[in-house]
Amino acid sequence: MDYKKQMRYAINMAANFKYTAKPNPVVGALILERDQIICEGFHERYGGPHAEVNCLEQLEKLRNKQRENLTLLCTLEPCNHFGKTPPCADGIIKSGVKNVVIGSVDPNPKVSGSGIKKMQENGIKVTQGVLDEEARKINEYFFFKHTNNRPFITIKIASSKDGKSHDAKGSTTWITSEDSRNDVQLLRAEHDVILTGGNTVRNDNPRMNARVNFPVNQPKKILLSSQKIWDMNFHFFKNADFEITNETDLSKIMRSSFLKDSSSIMVEAGPKLVNAFLKNGLCDRLVIYKSQVEIGNDGVNWFENDNVLDKYGFKIKSNYTIGPDIKMVLENG
Ligand SMILES: NC(=O)c1ccc[n+]([C@@H]2O[C@H](COP(=O)([O-])OP(=O)(O)OC[C@H]3O[C@@H](n4cnc5c(N)ncnc54)[C@H](OP(=O)(O)O)[C@@H]3O)[C@@H](O)[C@H]2O)c1
Repeated sequence: MDYKKQMRYAINMAANFKYTAKPNPVVGALILERDQIICEGFHERYGGPHAEVNCLEQLEKLRNKQRENLTLLCTLEPCNHFGKTPPCADGIIKSGVKNVVIGSVDPNPKVSGSGIKKMQENGIKVTQGVLDEEARKINEYFFFKHTNNRPFITIKIASSKDGKSHDAKGSTTWITSEDSRNDVQLLRAEHDVILTGGNTVRNDNPRMNARVNFPVNQPKKILLSSQKIWDMNFHFFKNADFEITNETDLSKIMRSSFLKDSSSIMVEAGPKLVNAFLKNGLCDRLVIYKSQVEIGNDGVNWFENDNVLDKYGFKIKSNYTIGPDIKMVLENG
């Protein structure tokens, strides 16, 4: 039996919780009796029980009947450390299940093979790497963070048809359409942190939370600013944990303790901060919403010239219309 069908089911189901489990990875677990699924569990919300725990709880309720040939299938290696919850590997050993099938090995150095080792040492047969690539894909940001020692960085910009960010004289009309702005809400919802700069908060007073019609663990916020005292009535400081930092070294900020548990950051700022991130090679995905509206001579250019993005090595991943605007996604490398 190759377990691919059941693993695909667990991966697809686990992905349903990507907005509530973050910044934790999404995980799905199944118990199979021979090839039949008899229990399923998912990591549904940040801080809540892990998928294996939810699944094993169901198994306990089915113990009224003799169960044989049980397999626990898990999209990500079960943990072997005390975090917000006790180690899942211990729970599996205690359950008596003797066959475990895993999608991908957990890249978190706190786990990274130790969950597998512990189960094997306790007489459990462990098969790993079933649909490994698909299992990693649903936790793209989580794998990136543990491979690169910093969060995945998305920069989002709204640009006028003539390549401007905003009107230097300070008029604050929307550049892009409502369709694009709704799309930005989804983008915010999937990130762990939203980051901006002092000028944007002072000039625009943005909320920068994810306004979507489904449950979401709201992104935390970071404001980069040398201003010492801020009026807490700015919308930015409401609805989520926030940090204000006067650190100007962007690489240091990416490794700061406030971001310890974060796998993804979305930068939503003006040209100064956006270009600082680009110059420092700190952009993994650039999302541009380009409108039909022209700002004209009073507008501030996003980039020095059109070649900047080529220079940084960005390649177009997708390019399509969204309402009257164009949404272009570029990735580095
Ligand atoms: N079209 C869009 O998508 C979009 C999105 C956001 C904002 N905007 C527009 O952009 C305008 C502001 O743009 P901006 O370029 O002047 O400002 P910005 O990029 O939003 O912020 C720059 C500020 O960030 C702080 N900062 C800290 N470390 C920095 C670093 N390493 N490099 C650069 N800045 C750093 C400084 O704040 P302190 O001065 O407080 O020290 C600096 O003044 C807003 O008025 C808004 O309308 C447009």
